[in-house]
Amino acid sequence: QTGHITIDSGYKNTGATQSAITYLDGELGVLHYRGYSIEQLAAKSNFIEVAYLLIYGKLPTQHELTHFNEQIAKRTLVHENFRTLLSAYPANAHPMGILSSMICSLTAFHPDSLDPNLTDEQVDLNIARLMGKITTIAAWSYKHAVGRPLVYPKKSLDYCSNFLQMMFSDPTENYHVNPVVVDALNKLLILHADHEQNCSTSTVRLVGSSNASLFGSISAGVNALWGPLHGGANQEVIEMLEAIKADGGDSKKYIEKAKDKNDPFRLMGFGHRVYKNFDPRAKIIKAACDNILYNLGVKDPILEIAKQLEEAALTDPYFIERKLYPNVDFYSGIIYKAIGLPKEMFTVMFAIGRLPGWIAQWKEMRENKEPIGRPRQIYTGQTAREYVDIKNR
Ligand code: SDX
Repeated sequence: QTGHITIDSGYKNTGATQSAITYLDGELGVLHYRGYSIEQLAAKSNFIEVAYLLIYGKLPTQHELTHFNEQIAKRTLVHENFRTLLSAYPANAHPMGILSSMICSLTAFHPDSLDPNLTDEQVDLNIARLMGKITTIAAWSYKHAVGRPLVYPKKSLDYCSNFLQMMFSDPTENYHVNPVVVDALNKLLILHADHEQNCSTSTVRLVGSSNASLFGSISAGVNALWGPLHGGANQEVIEMLEAIKADGGDSKKYIEKAKDKNDPFRLMGFGHRVYKNFDPRAKIIKAACDNILYNLGVKDPILEIAKQLEEAALTDPYFIERKLYPNVDFYSGIIYKAIGLPKEMFTVMFAIGRLPGWIAQWKEMRENKEPIGRPRQIYTGQTAREYVDIKNR
């Protein structure tokens, strides 16, 4: 049985599929969505247009983009029973746990989504539902945590503005969306939109390969992303920077801790399975950081600590030997914090950004009629033995 099986733990050298969605080159630090570089898309596009590009394979015409936006805007409202579901959570429930269970609960309110033989139109409907409702579920989980009234979506607003007003407005006053924040949010969501076969995307494909529903597959992806080694790292980075600040701001001390094999401390936001060069997304986010904080008039001492850590790590042989560079999670939290998001919401923002990528990969797996994922193993357990009655054990 073990003759032809090789183990590749963490799938470091295993290709799971063939995909036409995202291309990344870890050595050169290159990332393209459907052939377009993220540098071009972050500078010229917007998140919903990039979502369309990833999911449908081409940049939309004005008519296609308008229709896509309308389909999403029409479906941002969730069933009123979601308020009851939400009210059952304690205020300190982590929003990623709420997000994954609420997304899975969409199957209960849209049972048609459970049909494994959906038409393309029905798949498009579920895509629009998911793209629309994720922002409402995310904003409502935040409002529930802070004990503030839930704010309903507004169809008249663009995607990012609508999310911001659901997050930060309240019924007692008018809320004006800051265009600097809308621009920052579009950029951040674009940069998180897909990343080929990472842990959470592979999870979405594996769950989807059993013909589970789109909502069930995405819910599984949210849980994989939640892990501190994956999308959860953006929350860990801010907690790390704040701990360093509270401990006197000595970044060198923490570089040494990260190098110490006996110390479990890792420099969160550093290192990557594929990028053995600067994560191109981190470069764009770092540049945006200075610009956004300046435009918002925000001075955050942890940004200085982040830059010191980066500087120290990029000159330290331990990091250079292991090709450890800042990744997408290293600077993103500083921008999320500057626009008013609590750190518990950072990984939720990653999920909102990654949703179109997960959807595109699930759709490709389904259209390519890929077989159910079912890896093998090398057995290392007991050889055959006889049962012993409990009185004789
Ligand atoms: C994301 O896959 C994706 O594409 C993910 C992602 C996406 O868009 O989907 O890019 C998003 O998840 C970014 C990564 C966020 N995670 C973190 O920032 C957590 C900290 N980083 C690591 O834990 C680690 O670098 C990983 C998980 C990102 C990668 O792990 P690998 O490829 O399995 O590498 P490894 O753990 O085997 O480390 C190799 C060496 C080890 O040293 P040695 O045993 O060889 O002596 O590098 C060391 C590690 O100890 N190392 C670190 C380190 N990361 C790796 N040492 C200190 N600090 C770190 N952050």
